[in-house]
Amino acid sequence: MMTEAGLAYAKVNLSLDIVSKMADGFHYIKTVMQTVSLSDEVEVRCEPGAGISVDAGLPYLPGDERNIAAKAALAFYGHTGIKGHRTYIKIRKNIPVCAGLGGGSADGACVLRILDRLFETRLGYEAIERIGAGIGSDVPFCVAGGTSLAVGRGDILTSLTPVPKCAIVICKPPFNCPTPMLFGRIKCEKIRARPDTDGIVAALGQGDLGSAARRMYNVFEDALPRGAREIADIKYALLDKGALGAVMTGSGPAVIGLFDNEEDAYRAYGHLKLNYKECYLTSTVERICEK
Ligand code: C5P
Repeated sequence: MMTEAGLAYAKVNLSLDIVSKMADGFHYIKTVMQTVSLSDEVEVRCEPGAGISVDAGLPYLPGDERNIAAKAALAFYGHTGIKGHRTYIKIRKNIPVCAGLGGGSADGACVLRILDRLFETRLGYEAIERIGAGIGSDVPFCVAGGTSLAVGRGDILTSLTPVPKCAIVICKPPFNCPTPMLFGRIKCEKIRARPDTDGIVAALGQGDLGSAARRMYNVFEDALPRGAREIADIKYALLDKGALGAVMTGSGPAVIGLFDNEEDAYRAYGHLKLNYKECYLTSTVERICEK
């Protein structure tokens, strides 16, 4: 029997722009992604046999191969040709589900990293990212994380100058909108406001967190079927409490605020926590070094 454990870190999007709809039905996006300290705990146990099961401790998350963590194991075995292992994946979910924080993708990427260590396959992050791309658009970023510009489906990555160490407050209002439905509501030619993604990349290059934070925006904010008012209220509360900038992450509905001051971040967190159960005080996490 072999067991390995690891942390699956959430991601946030500092910007999210949709450039066009591609022939395959997916959308060409342009986004700056950042890893944050909020994480799921993942354990993988392998013993002789067959089959993959996932226990994520939540009744509404599938325990079979519909779960992205199981898909990751399946893809790993398919890629490497390794056979004959019954695989148990246990996940302690700390990242809220359907929030725009990439929790499922982080779990999938973590399973790939863990299996690579368990079986000593030494695939390297680039190869693991390619396997991840077949599982979900956000999985490649979650393999190494850090700060990246992601284009295409979100799977074509360029490492950026890391976001200066800062506090990030996350607040998830209690509603959600499935990602495919939100993409379906986007008419590229009708997008009214866009983030200044190139400006964010340039600001990060200069180590200017404030300048990057002021340029953040997510085009999905304008496409929400409901809850837009609540997103705006949370953004306002974060800015009012000293955030350098605030934006909805991914397909939402979680909203993030960037703070260069820990005390302001703590106050904003405490304030939002009065009205929202799912609030988190997090910080930036750098790219995982390849061993
Ligand atoms: O890749 P992932 O499984 O996260 O995508 C979920 C859904 O979101 C896709 O089936 C597609 O409808 C939509 N999507 C898209 N363009 C992207 C990423 C996702 O249209 N770049």
